[in-house]
Parts: sequence; structure tokens; C-alpha cells
Amino acid sequence: MNKQILVTGGTGYIGSHTVVELQNEGFDVIIVDDLSNSSIEVLDAIEKITGKRPAFERFNLADREKTGAFFENHQNIDAIIHFAAFKAVGESVEKPLEYYRNNLVSLMNLLENMKKHQVPNMVFSSSCTVYGQPELLPVTESTPRKPAESPYGNTKAVSEDIMRDFSNANENINCIALRYFNPIGAHPSALIGELPVGIPNNLVPFITQTAAGLRDELKIFGDDYDTPDGTAVRDYINVVDLAKAHVVAINRLLKTKQKAAYEYFNVGTGNGYSVMQLVKTFIEVNGVDLKYQIVGRRAGDIEKIWADTTYANKELGWEAEKTLEETLESAWAWEKNVRNIK
Ligand code: UD1
Repeated sequence: MNKQILVTGGTGYIGSHTVVELQNEGFDVIIVDDLSNSSIEVLDAIEKITGKRPAFERFNLADREKTGAFFENHQNIDAIIHFAAFKAVGESVEKPLEYYRNNLVSLMNLLENMKKHQVPNMVFSSSCTVYGQPELLPVTESTPRKPAESPYGNTKAVSEDIMRDFSNANENINCIALRYFNPIGAHPSALIGELPVGIPNNLVPFITQTAAGLRDELKIFGDDYDTPDGTAVRDYINVVDLAKAHVVAINRLLKTKQKAAYEYFNVGTGNGYSVMQLVKTFIEVNGVDLKYQIVGRRAGDIEKIWADTTYANKELGWEAEKTLEETLESAWAWEKNVRNIK
């Protein structure tokens, strides 16, 4: 029988790409999502890509009763990948309680039910935000965490601590946190991708929407950083590469290859690109015009970060494969598909 994976937030950006990779590898998937930041049509797209429609239930995992009832009705779950969370950094500063309640209570409800129903494995979406601005680059898994800059970032740090303590206290529970760097791009089919509601906060959706004519111009936040061209540097990872890292982490847990009850890995490419390099590459590979203007720094931004992926490459046997060029092509192909641009 196929292993069954519960994917929370499975209609979201990273979740949907991971569901595709899981189904391609022969896993059965059940998605739980409240559709607060994604749409039900994503299920059609996943079915088109993989030939299989994942099971789906709509509710918010911070609801303890509904989460309990879900596990009562699904006794055969082998592992959970927990994506469902609020993720807007700025909004989290305005609404800290909403962020703490949604992101932490949902995790605790899941862990409680893992124990009750003998679901031994969880993979969790963490973020390189836990490193803050590191003293030394690139960051390895032993780079110390820094106090979070936002309630959103703090929910990731606290979630990691909760998983560590819970898996240490329960012999049969194992968790892997994947610390994502900056996920960008879309599935090569252009049927799924990132579709932010309202004005995008993140760089690549803002670029593609500007190229599509939805926004007047891109604002580049700061060109006075201590970087080669003065703009901030990040490690941009293709979302399909990132999705595949989740499948690898799931297999590590299912085959009990993990070295500790709680593990964490950097999931990046190992390469840092500046905002300006990314913008220029986007224009070049897609042959589009893009209006941009340099403005002041954005509050809370760090100057530069990229991953040392040695440990993840060695331990997981995984590495990012796609180039920045093909990733930015995929981002534009997706935006064109969404906006019906030829
Ligand atoms: C942010 C969060 C990170 C979170 C991720 C999720 C911080 C410090 N980090 O990453 O924790 O996991 O979003 O989506 O908040 N930029 C522009 N113009 C724009 C948009 C962005 O110049 O219109 C620049 C930013 O200043 C930054 C780079 O592009 O230097 C990447 O920004 P973004 O895509 O928002 O990601 P992060 O801020 O790195």
C-alpha cells in the first residue's frame, strides 16, 4: 500500500509543488488547507500535472476540535508535511497575536494528534530568517540563531523549539525542519506557481506582476548595502528543487535514517545573487521590459545571506539543480499563463 502523507497548506505555493512531487513518487496525499491564501482550483492543476487528484479537506488547523476529528477519521497517515501558516512579515508586526495563534496553535494541535494517533513523522517549513543577519557567510546549520526581527520570524524559531522538545520527549516522534532560503519560480508546466493576494511583498512576484502590467514599477529597496553592487543578496532556490527536498526528508523519516529525533537542514543553492543581478537576469532571459527605481532600504531587511549546503547535500543526498535563468523563465511563464499573456 502507498504511504499516505498529510500535507497541510497543500494548495499554497510551496505546498502545491510538493504535492506534485510526492504524487510523482507514488505517495498518496491528503491536503488540509483553509484556503485563506490559496484557491481550490490548484487541485485541478495538480490533477492535470500528475494525473491524480489529491484528497482535500478544508479547515483551519488552529481549530483543535476539527483537527482532532480529522485524525479520528484518518487513521492511516504515515507522515505530515506542515506548510499551513501565515507568512507576511509586515502583517505579522501589525497583528502579532493572529500570527502566534495561527502558526503555533496549529503546530501544537498537529503534534498532539501525532502522539495520540501514532503518526511518527513530520517535516516542517522553517526559514533562514532564524539566522537573522549572520556574522559569517555562508550560513551552516551550526550558525547560531538570532532573535527574530518579526513575530512571523519568531513563530518559525519557536516552532523549531516546540518540535525539538516534543520529539525529544516522545520516543516515537521524529521531526525535520527545513530552513528555506528564498523560494522562487514555478512548475515547468506553468500550471501552478506563486499567486499572492493583493500587492506582492516578495521580489519575484512583484517583478512578474510589473512585467505583466499590473504594477507601474519595481522599487528596489536600497543600493547602499555592503555588497558588490550595493543591493541586498539572497539565496534564491527553485520551488521544484525545494519541493523535492521535502520528498527526500519524508523518505529519510520513513526509512528511519535520521540521526536524531529532531533535525534541521538548510535548503538553498549555496549561491548568493543581488536584487540587481536578479532583475537584470529576469529582463535578459525573458526579453521583457521592466521599469524599476532604486528607493530607500525596507525596514527589517537584512543585507546578505546565502546557505552553505554541504551538510544537506551530504546527509540528504539532495541538491538544488535548476539555474537562476530557468527559474526566472518559469516564473514569467506562470505569470503569463495566469494573466493570459501570449
Ligand atoms: C522574506 C522574509 C523571510 C520569509 C520570506 C517569505 C525577512 C527578513 N525575510 O524574505 O523570513 O521567509 O520573505 O516570503 O523579512 N525587494 C525589493 N523590492 C520589492 C520586494 C523585495 O527590492 O518589491 C528586495 C528585498 O529588499 C530583499 C529581496 O528583494 O532584499 C528579497 O525580498 P523578499 O522576496 O521579500 O524576501 P526576503 O525579504 O528575503
